[in-house]
Amino acid sequence: MCGIVGYLGGKRDIKDFLLKGLKELEYRGYDSAGIAVLQNGELKICKAVGKLKNLEEKCKNVKTEGFGAGIGHTRWATHGKPTELNAHPHLGEFSYVVHNGIIENFKEIKEELEAPFVSQTDTEVIVHLFEKNLQQGLKPFEAFKATIEKLKGSYAILLITKAMPDTVFYAKKGSPLIIGRAEEEIFFASSDAPLIGYAKEVHYLDDGEFGYVDKEEISNWKEREKKEPLFQPLTLNKEFAQKGGFRFFMEKEIYEQSDVITQTLMGRAKDEAIEFEELEHGFFEDIQNIKICACGTSYHAGLTGAYLLERLAKIPCSVEIASEFRYKEPLLSDKTLFIVISQSGETADTLEALKMAKEAGLKTLAVCNVDNSSIVRLADRTILTRAGIEKGVASTKAFTTQVAVLWMLALYLAENFDKKELEALLHLPQALKVDDALHERLKRLSKRYLHGHGFFFIGRDIFYPLALEGALKLKEISYLHAEGYPAGEMKHGPIALADPELFTIALMPKTLLYDKVKSNVEELSARDSTICAVSSEEFELADDFIKIEPQNHPMLEYFSMSVVLQLLAMEIAIRLGNDVDMPRNLAKSVTVE
Ligand code: G6P
Repeated sequence: MCGIVGYLGGKRDIKDFLLKGLKELEYRGYDSAGIAVLQNGELKICKAVGKLKNLEEKCKNVKTEGFGAGIGHTRWATHGKPTELNAHPHLGEFSYVVHNGIIENFKEIKEELEAPFVSQTDTEVIVHLFEKNLQQGLKPFEAFKATIEKLKGSYAILLITKAMPDTVFYAKKGSPLIIGRAEEEIFFASSDAPLIGYAKEVHYLDDGEFGYVDKEEISNWKEREKKEPLFQPLTLNKEFAQKGGFRFFMEKEIYEQSDVITQTLMGRAKDEAIEFEELEHGFFEDIQNIKICACGTSYHAGLTGAYLLERLAKIPCSVEIASEFRYKEPLLSDKTLFIVISQSGETADTLEALKMAKEAGLKTLAVCNVDNSSIVRLADRTILTRAGIEKGVASTKAFTTQVAVLWMLALYLAENFDKKELEALLHLPQALKVDDALHERLKRLSKRYLHGHGFFFIGRDIFYPLALEGALKLKEISYLHAEGYPAGEMKHGPIALADPELFTIALMPKTLLYDKVKSNVEELSARDSTICAVSSEEFELADDFIKIEPQNHPMLEYFSMSVVLQLLAMEIAIRLGNDVDMPRNLAKSVTVE
């Protein structure tokens, strides 16, 4: 995920602050970086692809002592490849901008502007639009305001311009941005970490806030009203700051889901239809069936996707574990669309499966979180999940964004669908929001699940792959034995294990096959298995009950329950004293067979 830093003042070397600040944002992941400094009417700009040391090398002879304004950025590619031209800051004729987020309507804005565009990014429109507004006679702040008003999507923006030197313009909607201050200095950053040791106090900008800082003042606005910033003292713990105050990156990533899913949906889930700017309907012509191939958590997303593709798009769909697919001598037809799903885009088994499909002449589509990864480069088409960097080895936000993409793809390929699907999709950020009281309850509940001879996570339909994923999460970080099973299949063997030391985590959605699952759980309860039911409806036979908010669509229940299973696994693992972010024996990206 991209990172931003900014500075206004003269008490330190601006380049030095910007580079150090970007270093503190490295944990967010990036594939290129850049800085721009405006001093005495003169602009100094450097950009580089790859690690920050490349940028440091590029600007080693640049001198930036004295008063001035500076902006810096680490870019995690979403629109266009990681190249120097696509790296921020983006330039107009005399203004420079850095941006995090996605400008949903950048294509429309681009069409209205006559400026020469040099990058493939959505960001570049901001600086050209700003300059056009200036040319039409608006004063710089009015021009900035008019620019922001036109933008749809999410953004954290810093802009500097020769039209009003010694000033930094800023705006925030949907992407984080913080203003820090010390005597005669102003700092900006996307998280606390770069500000520690520099700013004394910080104001966390709210969505919709914008303004400018100059030598005299911080002119902060929300909508049409001036709004005093609420400065508060800054934490002094960098690691704590990087984790956004959470105990683990995994916890932060669970909480982030509600926000990142907005990025996943942006520009795709429209009022009337689903659109993917990266696809054209012609690409899917002649496709008679779909094969999905993936590993680990991505495989579970694929299993869920297969239910949705068959049910909504009416296209037969099968799912294979990549390491199995490779050696089974599969019979492949060129009427099959081959979808690979991968968070990292580097998983060796998935990559090899993709190569096999390409060699067999199949059309290929990647659902991936990392642009320019090996899988993205190889596949014919890619839909990026836009989850931002995922640091926890146990995948959370990558999983939910993959499922959301597959759901949208199923609707995109459907001849028609019920409007309720779109309404439900747009409700996803709400369904993924972590409820503090629920988290607290899971924390307390976790102490009862630290022993026993095993866990069965059970569910039906799409809740079966979710059960598999819940069990995998628990295994990965708690090292307890857990299995996911189709609820209706327990009676064909596993029920023999039932006793009070067998913990059954029962996924009981109200909107899908509730009575069927209920009967299956009753069978287990009759054999004295300890039941922990997850549902919006109280279940009298449950030993423990985790209540989710009632929803009117199975997918919303699915996403709410995903959060419950992630938090439950995490709380159990924390109680067991495990390193949740780096579980033993596991790697985030498995590039070997
Ligand atoms: C590793 C990770 C899992 C992940 C799997 C597939 O095993 O630990 O969390 O689900 O690889 O990774 P991918 O990047 O292809 O989704």
